[in-house]
Amino acid sequence: MTPDQKHEQRKYNPNITVKTDAPVAKSPLKWMGLVMLILAVLTTMSMWGREKISIKASPIIPELSAKATHGRELINAQCADCHGVDGTGHSTKGPPLLHPMYREEIFPDFHFKRVLREGRPQNNWRFGPMPAQPQLSDADMVDIIAFVREVHTATGVQ
Ligand code: HEC
Repeated sequence: MTPDQKHEQRKYNPNITVKTDAPVAKSPLKWMGLVMLILAVLTTMSMWGREKISIKASPIIPELSAKATHGRELINAQCADCHGVDGTGHSTKGPPLLHPMYREEIFPDFHFKRVLREGRPQNNWRFGPMPAQPQLSDADMVDIIAFVREVHTATGVQ
C-alpha cells in the first residue's frame, strides 16, 4: 500500500471516530517564546540607541579652569585611545566620558574616583572592561573630573 492509499483508508475509515470534546492541550511555551523574542529585540534596540549617542557626542568645550586644562591633557594622553580625544568617544575601545550617563547627579565624584582606582568590568557598554589607572594621583583624578564637569555644564548636560 502506498502512503497515499494508507492516508485515504484512514480518512474514510468509519471505525475511527473523532472525539470533539477532548481537552485541547494549549502549551504556554509558544507564548513564552514569543515574549522572550520581543524582549530580546527591545533590549538590542535600546543598546543600539545608547551606542549611537556615543558616536554623536559633540560637546562644547568652554574656557577651562587650570585644573580642567590639566585634566584635559591627562585624558588626551592616557584615556583618548579608548575614550576618544577630549573624551568624546568615536572609539571602538570605550564610551565617551562626556556622555550624560557620567553627569554628576548619577555619577558622583567618589564613584568616578573608585572606577579610576579599581577599574570596572564591562557593564553599561559592549567595549570590554575599564582597566584601573593606578598611575593617577588623587589630584590628577580631581582635575580629570573637573574637565568632565566643566564640559558638561557648558554643553547643558545636567
Ligand atoms: C583600554 C581602554 C581604556 C582606557 C585606557 C581607559 N578606559 Fe575608561 N573605560 C573603558 C571601557 C571599555 C569602559 C566601559 C565599561 C562599561 O561597560 O561600563 C570605561 C569606562 C570608564 C568610565 C565609566 C565607568 C562606569 O562606572 O560606568 C570612566 C569614568 C572612565 N572609563 C574613565 C577613564 C579615564 C579618566 C581614563 C584615563 C585615565 C580611562 N578611563 C582609560 C576603557 C578604557
